Amino acid sequence: MSETIRLAAFIDKGGTGKTTATAHLGVALAREGLDVLLVDLAGKQGDLAKTFGVWGEYRELIDAGDAWPNVTTVFQDEWAAIAEKLGEAAVDDLVIETGEGVDLIPAHPGLDSLDADLGNIDDAAERYSRLETFLDEYIDPRGYDAVLLDLPGLTNNVSYSGLWAAKHVLAPVEMGPFEAEQADQLREDLTQMVEAFDVEVDLAMVLPNKVDTRTKLAEEYLEAFREEYPEAIAPEYIPYSQDIRNAVDGGETAFALEEPSTTAEDARDAFEADARALVDRLGGA
Ligand SMILES: Nc1ncnc2c1ncn2[C@@H]1O[C@H](COP(=O)(O)OP(=O)(O)OP(=O)(O)O)[C@@H](O)[C@H]1O
Ligand SMILES: [Mg+2]
Repeated sequence: MSETIRLAAFIDKGGTGKTTATAHLGVALAREGLDVLLVDLAGKQGDLAKTFGVWGEYRELIDAGDAWPNVTTVFQDEWAAIAEKLGEAAVDDLVIETGEGVDLIPAHPGLDSLDADLGNIDDAAERYSRLETFLDEYIDPRGYDAVLLDLPGLTNNVSYSGLWAAKHVLAPVEMGPFEAEQADQLREDLTQMVEAFDVEVDLAMVLPNKVDTRTKLAEEYLEAFREEYPEAIAPEYIPYSQDIRNAVDGGETAFALEEPSTTAEDARDAFEADARALVDRLGGA
């Protein structure tokens, strides 16, 4: 594969499955043979690292003051100097391995103040482009095939930085009337970025998640999303599966389950099909 695929999981709403989708699509891409890096910008609670059962370890580093450099460091004025001083180790120290074949740059408590710090930078391009510059200069040379960013479920300087860097959005949506409004809002947010900053951000995939097709309404909402987003809609929706919740709570994805339930297997198949569609859409191998 020539170019690195970049994708940001974003929608201005909590709990729709951004972290779950980032983790599962990441693992699905890795199972297709791609080298995958996940980046957690979604907040200090470290949900993505928790999904892979590696947050406890990282938390100890943080508490001991040894989690430096970290994901917030790459946004700082000093990053270039730090990277020059540490050489390859600067990025090596940022990235941890998970047990499921994907690499991860975990979240950090400093993400809390990062939003305000970015707000102090007057020039919008300067404010939002730091992450992009970091990925261009320090991550892409590492040869990753895909870099997936997990963003906060709200519009702030950190999520804008992620959108700016990735240019392609994955929007997990739940089935419901308010959810359709959220997706409209998302389209507006993306249009606004183009108008305000002359940055093109496209909706690569709208991913219906937690779908319970036993309910008549779910089918109707699914149909509405298909009509609304004929190009961006994911080929397969992700069913509601208690097994996903249990797996993630236990520090692994549904792909790591040895005896998956039928819904967990359906979810895995769907994530795999959607991962392949992403590669097609974003021009990978
Ligand atoms: N398909 C699914 N079936 C069952 N549970 C799911 C599914 N997808 C996600 N969940 C559960 O729903 C909850 C919210 O998912 P997740 O954390 O991925 O959402 P999020 O958009 O990242 O939330 P936040 O905005 O808080 O970061 C989690 O407990 C997760 O385990
Ligand atoms: Mg999340």
